[in-house]
Amino acid sequence: MMKIAIAGTNGLAQFMAYYLSQVTSHNLVFLTRTANPGLNERGWQVLVVDYDQPESLAYILKGVDVVISTIGSDAQLALVEAAADAHVRHFIPSAFSGPEQCTAQHSEREAWQNLMSLLQHHEVKSCMRYTLFTCGAFYERFGPGGLSSLQISTFNNRHSAIGEEGSLLIDIRLGKATIPVKSGIEELSICMTSARDVARYVVATIQAYEDMSTWPREFKFHTERLTMSELVAIGSRVRGTPIVPVFKTPASLIHNYASALQANKANKALSIAQHIAVAEAHPALTFPPTEINLPSSILSYARTAGIEPAPSEPFEAWLTRAWSTPQPTEATTSGKQSGTSSRSGSSHKSKKPTPLEENLRRPSD
Ligand SMILES: NC(=O)c1ccc[n+]([C@@H]2O[C@H](COP(=O)([O-])OP(=O)(O)OC[C@H]3O[C@@H](n4cnc5c(N)ncnc54)[C@H](OP(=O)(O)O)[C@@H]3O)[C@@H](O)[C@H]2O)c1
Repeated sequence: MMKIAIAGTNGLAQFMAYYLSQVTSHNLVFLTRTANPGLNERGWQVLVVDYDQPESLAYILKGVDVVISTIGSDAQLALVEAAADAHVRHFIPSAFSGPEQCTAQHSEREAWQNLMSLLQHHEVKSCMRYTLFTCGAFYERFGPGGLSSLQISTFNNRHSAIGEEGSLLIDIRLGKATIPVKSGIEELSICMTSARDVARYVVATIQAYEDMSTWPREFKFHTERLTMSELVAIGSRVRGTPIVPVFKTPASLIHNYASALQANKANKALSIAQHIAVAEAHPALTFPPTEINLPSSILSYARTAGIEPAPSEPFEAWLTRAWSTPQPTEATTSGKQSGTSSRSGSSHKSKKPTPLEENLRRPSD
């Protein structure tokens, strides 16, 4: 049995914890900056940490075998240092093809390089290995409420634009699409996996390959790889009316990005930076199936281990289901308010548990 610390309490962190508790007997603890009675009430062990206090952070991490990080920026660097100090064996950084990994923004690129350098440094100096899970964009970015409906990219103000519905490529509700095009490339593509599947695959990998010393530095996988026109066609079918895309060259995206920065519109700039990453065929967003190296045994394990619902739903089936299900207007799993809710304009507040709440009850509940 291992001790696993999950840093952050967003939807991805909660999916990981849920699946870990379903299929493993590992000892789990959430690390968070503020008390989270919502998670405590549901039986999770939650420790409040201060990422500015390296010694107490390292003390808390003593005895932890694996850290799964879903946090970014300087806090994550502090977490890496503390984990190395505490002799944590394996670190899974907050990557998951997220905004820090796949960005065209100089500051974020620098932050990403700093993280990679620190992890490499501690692999040598402290024998703490690390593995990235690179999965393409989350399906949920295209669903109602966007990622913020799963409490992802809502707590971290720097990434709030990423959490908004319709912020990447197609906006199903408004029937709009901003599609990068690049001369010399027939058509750009994007890889995609649902956040739920990402969590499931991380957990299945931990369960199937307990000897983490054999893990590579990066596992790559995706459920779908769609061209831009396939994505727009799916969006149109799900919406029931054609979505007419606005095409953007890298040069026009870069121009829009600079204008957004100049106008102090950081959120808009962040969103455009993601489109530039697609236009540049960023290797964590656009990789061919030949680069998938998550063993097929993991994929089949995740399908057979009773981790419900069955994984690897094709994107169109997922999107159709997502847009035909009545949507809650707020996500309340952790007792914190999500930054963005549905854009339907409805003032109805559902008393029923949100899908996240339903799914993240501990099996013993
Ligand atoms: N593939 C994709 O399409 C995609 C898109 C977006 C994100 N992602 C991935 O999803 C994960 C979360 O997304 P995110 O990076 O946008 O973050 P987020 O969900 O906004 O926040 C993640 C966690 O970081 C903690 N946090 C927030 N601000 C912080 C700060 N200033 N200092 C320290 N901790 C802070 C919060 O935990 P506490 O409040 O509990 O401390 C929160 O649960 C990341 O691993 C990211 O790579 C993937």
